[in-house]
Amino acid sequence: LWLVLGIRRRQSGEPPVENGWIPYLGCALQFGGNPLEFLRSRQKKYGHIFTCKIAGEYVHFLCDPFSYHAVIRQGRHLDWKKFHFSASVKAFGHESMDPSHGYTTENLHQTFLKTLQGEALPSLIETMMENLQTVMLQSDTLKVTTSSWEVDGIFAFCYKVMFESGYLTLFGKELGNGDKIQAHRDAQKALVLNALENFKEFDKIFPALVAGLPIHVFKSAYSARENLAKTMLHENLSKRENLSDLISLRMLLNDTLSTFNDISKARTHVALLWASQANTLPATFWALFYMIRSPEAMTAASQEVKRVLENSHQKADPMNPQLVLTREQLDNMPVLDSIIKEAMRLSSASLNVRVAKEDFLLHLDNKESYRIRKDDILALYPQMLHFDPEIYDDPLTYKYDRFLDENGLEKTNFYRDGRKLRYYYMPFGSGVTKCPGRFFAVHEIKQFLSLLLTYFDMELLDSSVKVPLLDQSRAGLGILQPTYDVDFKYRLKSQF
Ligand code: HEM
Repeated sequence: LWLVLGIRRRQSGEPPVENGWIPYLGCALQFGGNPLEFLRSRQKKYGHIFTCKIAGEYVHFLCDPFSYHAVIRQGRHLDWKKFHFSASVKAFGHESMDPSHGYTTENLHQTFLKTLQGEALPSLIETMMENLQTVMLQSDTLKVTTSSWEVDGIFAFCYKVMFESGYLTLFGKELGNGDKIQAHRDAQKALVLNALENFKEFDKIFPALVAGLPIHVFKSAYSARENLAKTMLHENLSKRENLSDLISLRMLLNDTLSTFNDISKARTHVALLWASQANTLPATFWALFYMIRSPEAMTAASQEVKRVLENSHQKADPMNPQLVLTREQLDNMPVLDSIIKEAMRLSSASLNVRVAKEDFLLHLDNKESYRIRKDDILALYPQMLHFDPEIYDDPLTYKYDRFLDENGLEKTNFYRDGRKLRYYYMPFGSGVTKCPGRFFAVHEIKQFLSLLLTYFDMELLDSSVKVPLLDQSRAGLGILQPTYDVDFKYRLKSQF
């Protein structure tokens, strides 16, 4: 009977199993409704590790942060590629990028490290800073004056400014046509606006795609994705200037190391557009929303930005916006760093996943060991850390300086049961699958906040507005979006 129902019985040495009430789906509905609550209640019942059947897969949830290392360290028993590559194929429709499947020999991980970190970072930052200032002050994306307030939703505002700036930073600009500058600008703008609309339409159904629903069920999202892909055919990208190293190297490797057809190549670039925006947009919203809502955060952040600009002898001029914030300067802004970290602590819900390559014994910190079967999934859900009242005092409350130490520098000492934690903050994932764009992501949000604080006055329309709830439909995928937008007003500072 157990076999017919597809239900697993706990074998000796295995973690406790919860099969759920519904064959196949198992605990999926309870988990999906509110993962944090679900996992906390099971942790209470079963302890550090337990197994849930979710949509046909057996998932072992490891809840003891001192044992995270057993999963994060790249052991020979665990595979991360299987899950990542197949999720990307399902969502974006390109052929497999796993070299063992034979379509490409590119080591994607290396491509990402080479083009998003280290020596590649300064030019990304520089381009982003230019694009942010152009979009905020010199294009007609925003209508800013000193004399009157503009009202907008904070999420809508972050979406348009960050999407356009980030898009242009990765994918460059169309080559200009000397005598028709205005027409060229208009065409450029239309392209970005189209990309934004298509991105939004596609992103809406992203959780359903990862859950395994075929994209053809969603007609308009499918055509949105394909429209994006068409703009990213190599023949179109090669007409653009200032492509980032990431995209130009990926184009080269698509052409030299893969057997992908043209549309498959283009879809790999759509995947990168998604990776670069889908988490950044809500993270920027939460950072700005919480900052505006906290007068202390606004004051501390403004002072920090002022200090950095004064130290480098820069004066803001919205008519000729050319502020520069280098990597060193951005690395030296602990207040903004803490503001961004605290916003992401409160809004991130990524699931870290590995697949067992073979049967093996998982050793926990408390010296217990558990038998794990081949093809089972091991999962960490860092939101459990982020909302743990032992690690973060009063965890539901926003404290802009939570990640600052007594000297006003980055705080890295967090404790549980009197023991210092190695893992306490994980919105970017862990180990080999840690987000390769994380340095750029934090820098671009810092640049965005710095520019807003320098050029604009900003106020919430309703200063006592409640914090919007997190939209749980994306739980597991990264930074959650707000369930509704919050209005604010902005104008150029009167000194300009
Ligand atoms: C993967 C978070 C911004 C590029 C990931 C993962 C997370 C994440 C959780 C998956 C890790 C895993 O599966 O364990 C974030 C957050 C961001 C952000 C919270 C913003 C606040 C960016 C940006 C870029 C980027 C700006 C690029 C410009 C990537 C890429 C991957 C990835 C390429 C896939 C890596 C791989 O599969 O090897 N990100 N990310 N991310 N991210 Fe980010």
